[in-house]
Amino acid sequence: MRHASITGIGAYLPDRVVTNDDLSQLVDTSDEWIASRTGIRERRIVAEGQATSDMAAAAGRGALADAGLQPEDIDFLVVGTGSPDHIMPSTAAITQDLLGLRCGAVDVMAACTSFILALQQGTAMIESGRADRVLVIGADALTRHIDFTDRRTCVLFGDGAGAVVLEASDEPGVLGIDTGSDGSGAGVLVIPAGGAAMPCTPERVAAGEHYLKMSGGEVFKFAVRIIPEATKRALELSGLTVDDLTLLVPHQANQRILDAVAPRLGIESERVFSNVALLGNTSAGSIPLALHDLYTDHHLHRGDVLALVGFGAGLTWGAAVVRWMKEPKE
Ligand code: COA
Repeated sequence: MRHASITGIGAYLPDRVVTNDDLSQLVDTSDEWIASRTGIRERRIVAEGQATSDMAAAAGRGALADAGLQPEDIDFLVVGTGSPDHIMPSTAAITQDLLGLRCGAVDVMAACTSFILALQQGTAMIESGRADRVLVIGADALTRHIDFTDRRTCVLFGDGAGAVVLEASDEPGVLGIDTGSDGSGAGVLVIPAGGAAMPCTPERVAAGEHYLKMSGGEVFKFAVRIIPEATKRALELSGLTVDDLTLLVPHQANQRILDAVAPRLGIESERVFSNVALLGNTSAGSIPLALHDLYTDHHLHRGDVLALVGFGAGLTWGAAVVRWMKEPKE
């Protein structure tokens, strides 16, 4: 059987760092509140004029270089994002042009779960023989949709992008993937205005309906339940158990969520990767950015079993078990 394996990884973070103290100049909050409730200390914010596709292309370029490939080697591009450049055209089409790829390109829009669903799509294309090399990017500039007068949301999010190259291989790299969605939870995390259901009007913009709205407690409970459930299902699909897991690499939303899932999965907290303190919630960027951090910090070894787990608006979720096939970074 043909398998898909990660052969390259890249990342991009905007230069601008915004600390909790910076945010406390804008809203009634404090470093102490944000750090103790979320674990977040700082985040990156896109520059004026910088779009999601710019970050996606930079991360994609890094992944191509890491895999030792040229743009013309890529057969398909999938960009996972919840903050596309435009509703039309797709961010993937713009990214394809920025990278000089000569292939089809599509967006996968599933908010913070976008990267896992994009990975699933790339994997399926390789396993079916429709592609040999797929570039999979997760990129978000969600701060563009945040109300920086709303302390309940503006402290949580940051911007960034990560990318992986998937290549056909005889050895299984991407193993079991479990994904799901429950649209009955659509109102829990939503940007109400700006789509076909609620076009932007001056009145809606004045009411701030084009900004992200969230029932934080609902999302928290959902995340703590779904991360262990999806991880166990993906491990089962892979013929593995939590004992085989080298590391859980979850979507980085809140340190308290990450702390709560370790005992629920029956693993030590050291096996749950976290970089949320420095990046906040980068949405679709978070999982590939986490992988990139692990790789560049020499924490990944050939044969390691990783569970990549995303969750977010929809509600949606997805877990992918991956056997890491690259040698540690030199
Ligand atoms: N600074 C200071 N106070 C704040 C604050 C901030 N940034 N944000 C909220 N508060 C206040 C609230 O207004 C509330 O005050 P009130 O009781 O007077 O109304 C109080 O703190 C407690 O709020 P609560 O919502 O109960 O806090 P919490 O402990 O549940 O933490 C979140 C809130 C948002 C941090 C938490 O629910 C969370 O992380 N949820 C998941 C969100 C997420 O991950 N979303 C993305 C998923 S992809």
